[in-house]
Amino acid sequence: MTQFNDSQLTAAVIDSFAETPNPRAKFLLQELVKSLHEYVRKTDLTFEEWGYAIDFLTRTGQKCTDIRQEFILLSDVLGVSMLVDAVNHRERDGATETTVLGPFYVGEHRKTAHGTDISADLQGERMFVQSRVTDLHGKPLAGVPVDVWHADDDGFYDSQKPSYATEGPSSRARFITDDDGRFFFRTILPCSYPIPTDGPVGEMILQTRRHPMRPAHVHFLVNAPGYEPLITHVFIDGDKYLDSDVVFGVKDSLVHKLERRAAGGKAGGRIVDRPYAVMTYDFVLAPSSKD
Ligand code: BEZ
Ligand code: FE
Repeated sequence: MTQFNDSQLTAAVIDSFAETPNPRAKFLLQELVKSLHEYVRKTDLTFEEWGYAIDFLTRTGQKCTDIRQEFILLSDVLGVSMLVDAVNHRERDGATETTVLGPFYVGEHRKTAHGTDISADLQGERMFVQSRVTDLHGKPLAGVPVDVWHADDDGFYDSQKPSYATEGPSSRARFITDDDGRFFFRTILPCSYPIPTDGPVGEMILQTRRHPMRPAHVHFLVNAPGYEPLITHVFIDGDKYLDSDVVFGVKDSLVHKLERRAAGGKAGGRIVDRPYAVMTYDFVLAPSSKD
């Protein structure tokens, strides 16, 4: 029988992965062991604290469903999602910047005609969104699926509301770019909102005296064959949480000043009978680095 002191223990666990066939998996596991052991040593972690952590992670898993991902939320509020984003997108070369996916993407959206009001069932200030998808050289990318989703005027996503099960998606759709790379739709202006605070992650945010707010934004996921998938948001300029997003997701180039238009203006070929906002934001895709 072998008995280890604490540093020998770390070396033994690292060594236990020596025969892992996949070199990348071996590296990731060995580095994880190093960092975890270092954390326990540095903090003199007590049994009680370790037990709390296990319980916290158990509750995080138990909170997950098909339409709620509490682990993504944990990764987001700890800044891990944005760090993975940063190390994978060091060079953008003019491509649109990226940010977190977030926990409210529920898989591929329903294909929707250009110009549709995707929030027709909702109250709120009306907004017209128009956009164009191009490559790094300005060439329009046609036939590209673009998934969009955003919160309502009270700060909730459709999937957080009971109506989702009976009435289906709202403020959530897929558009396919036309021959000129364009797509456009109508909706309402989303507002800033708190991340869900009825689970272990939200409890941690409140107990540590952080605020749970995200600045108002619209999500876009653009997936064109031969190009890197673009996962991003457009943030609405002037929001009071732009400087303190709870998931650290704001980048200057993604903050957009809306244009305000008076009632009677024409948007997407139709007269709008109320004052409305216009979001005009184009997306530039980087070529895929994979063969
Ligand atoms: C979101 O923008 O939908 C989101 C992102 C991270 C955490 C919570 C929500
Ligand atoms: Fe969001």
